[in-house]
Amino acid sequence: MRRLGVLTSGGDAPGMNAAIRAVVRYSIYNNINVTGIHNGFEGLVEGDHMEMSLSSVADIIHRGGTILGSARSDEFMEEAGFSKALKNIKYLGLEGLVIIGGNGSFKGAQQLERAGVSTVCIPGTIDNDLPYTKYTLGFFTALTTVLESVEKIRDTSSSHNRSNVIEVMGRDCGDIALYAGLAGGAEMVIIPEIEYNIDEISDKIMQGRARGKKHSIIILSEGAGDAREISEQIEKKTGIITRYSILGYTQRGGAPAAYDRLIGSQMGAHAVKLLCGSTTNRAVGITGSGIFDMDLNEAISVEKKFDETTYELTKILSI
Ligand code: F6P
Repeated sequence: MRRLGVLTSGGDAPGMNAAIRAVVRYSIYNNINVTGIHNGFEGLVEGDHMEMSLSSVADIIHRGGTILGSARSDEFMEEAGFSKALKNIKYLGLEGLVIIGGNGSFKGAQQLERAGVSTVCIPGTIDNDLPYTKYTLGFFTALTTVLESVEKIRDTSSSHNRSNVIEVMGRDCGDIALYAGLAGGAEMVIIPEIEYNIDEISDKIMQGRARGKKHSIIILSEGAGDAREISEQIEKKTGIITRYSILGYTQRGGAPAAYDRLIGSQMGAHAVKLLCGSTTNRAVGITGSGIFDMDLNEAISVEKKFDETTYELTKILSI
């Protein structure tokens, strides 16, 4: 291996910079040159790139976002764009690619593999919606950000004796809401995996009030319903003023949590190790026992098992 490329694609996630830094430094340590591709697959199509050096990744491990930029590229998915990308990979002399992103990015990698390009993927998304790995890069930072907001909203919720619906990201995956619900002591979580029932939520709020609770926090995953509608329904049922907040893109930014810096560094180095050993078509992940890798196609097809235990525990602890 003489040269590899690295790119970040899809929604950015805190910890991506730690992974880029590890890819670059671990490669240079092993006498491999690295080309950074700007703006994900879009940069591959356009040939938008930079030479990576030790200093190009200095002072980034603690920064949110991605120094390479990210995008969701429609052109790459079309035949003309894809063949431009292949030409650029050849022209740049890339013998392997490390792709850091979510499930859309993994599918892009799958396409490249089919066309003969060696790829290794790193799961980078705040959504934690790649079930082959226990956690994705950025998930814990997003959770921390959500919890900071939950605590602030709880203060004002208590002062005013209100209920508050807080909408978090996650697309079709309720993990941000579920984990934030457990870690933040929410009264209720509403997630796409479980159908919600306004009567049940309202009863829970009223039971809390009867015990003297001054606030109610309901964490809503964006894929499960509309924050405004749900808060109006709760207000109508309970007679308690119910406000809603949509946390939005704040969840994608900010300095990565220690955990995301750690796994970003470990996953970045692991990806380079695989490519150096000519092991390709792999997805890197983390389990309880550490970093691992598995076949990319298998990784993409692993289906999400709903975390019933965490859901039940969240409900029990919020009685
Ligand atoms: O990166 C994942 C994610 O943040 C989802 O939680 C959210 O639904 C989506 O990206 C937003 O995407 P975009 O950046 O295209 O607005």
